[in-house]
Amino acid sequence: MAKICLVQGAGRGLGLAFVRRLLADDDVARVIATARAPDSHPALAELAQQHGERLQTCALDLADDTSIAAAREQVGTLTSRLDLLLTCGGILHEGERMWPEKKLADINPDNLARAFTVNAAGPILMIKHFHDLLIHGERAIIASLSARVGSISDNGYGGWYAYRASKAAQNQFTRTAAIELRRRSRQLICVGLHPGTVDTSLSEPFQRNVPEKQLQTAETAATHLLDVIGQLTPEDSGLLFDWAGNVIAP
Ligand SMILES: NC(=O)c1ccc[n+]([C@@H]2O[C@H](COP(=O)([O-])OP(=O)(O)OC[C@H]3O[C@@H](n4cnc5c(N)ncnc54)[C@H](OP(=O)(O)O)[C@@H]3O)[C@@H](O)[C@H]2O)c1
Repeated sequence: MAKICLVQGAGRGLGLAFVRRLLADDDVARVIATARAPDSHPALAELAQQHGERLQTCALDLADDTSIAAAREQVGTLTSRLDLLLTCGGILHEGERMWPEKKLADINPDNLARAFTVNAAGPILMIKHFHDLLIHGERAIIASLSARVGSISDNGYGGWYAYRASKAAQNQFTRTAAIELRRRSRQLICVGLHPGTVDTSLSEPFQRNVPEKQLQTAETAATHLLDVIGQLTPEDSGLLFDWAGNVIAP
């Protein structure tokens, strides 16, 4: 059966690249693309114009449970099933307001709360509201973009307190949801995904020290991650995978 996919954070960066890749796939019948303000993203509007009914947009703010619930209601009028729920939204910095910490003195309670709200609570609230659409007796995937720096065992450099800890919490939420959902459907696989270092506005201020070969385009990263998603089995549920398909230890 042709697939129906929902991509959260689809207005730019990796989310937009996923939408493009999915629309290029003949096995995908429809893509539902969410952003906080879908109409403010010209690239998404252009895709919607090109693809007509195959691409539908919907407003959704990860930091607002009411907004996620409203989006779930709207999506329920568009489809009774999803084959892929992909949450892409995440923050490392937010303009002047929020910048990743280099040292303990930089830690700010508002920024900690903001990072946890968007990066950790956002993806698990997406699962809370949308998971029923993915329980239909066929293979379905719930994935969210996480980051290697959320791995506690991999933390050799320190810094980026709020981002690291919120991504670690996101990974714990993924695993906890996977355990619960496994009891409901063996066909539903729930994972975190690390895209690598990708040329988007999130990484842009920190790209100076990244070797050129290690910096992927969003399109390349999305292609790799869709390959990883395609290979997932029920035994993989609860794990965090990098773009090459390797498991990242918690
Ligand atoms: N780029 C990298 O090198 C890299 C590396 C590791 C992990 N990641 C992860 O990959 C994911 C995507 O990042 P990106 O590189 O594509 O960054 P990006 O270009 O900065 O895009 C960030 C995305 O997050 C969304 N977002 C931010 N706050 C939101 C909120 N409150 N509610 C809903 N959506 C919100 C944005 O949506 P709006 O358009 O509505 O603002 C946008 O779609 C993130 O989770 C990030 O942690 C990226």
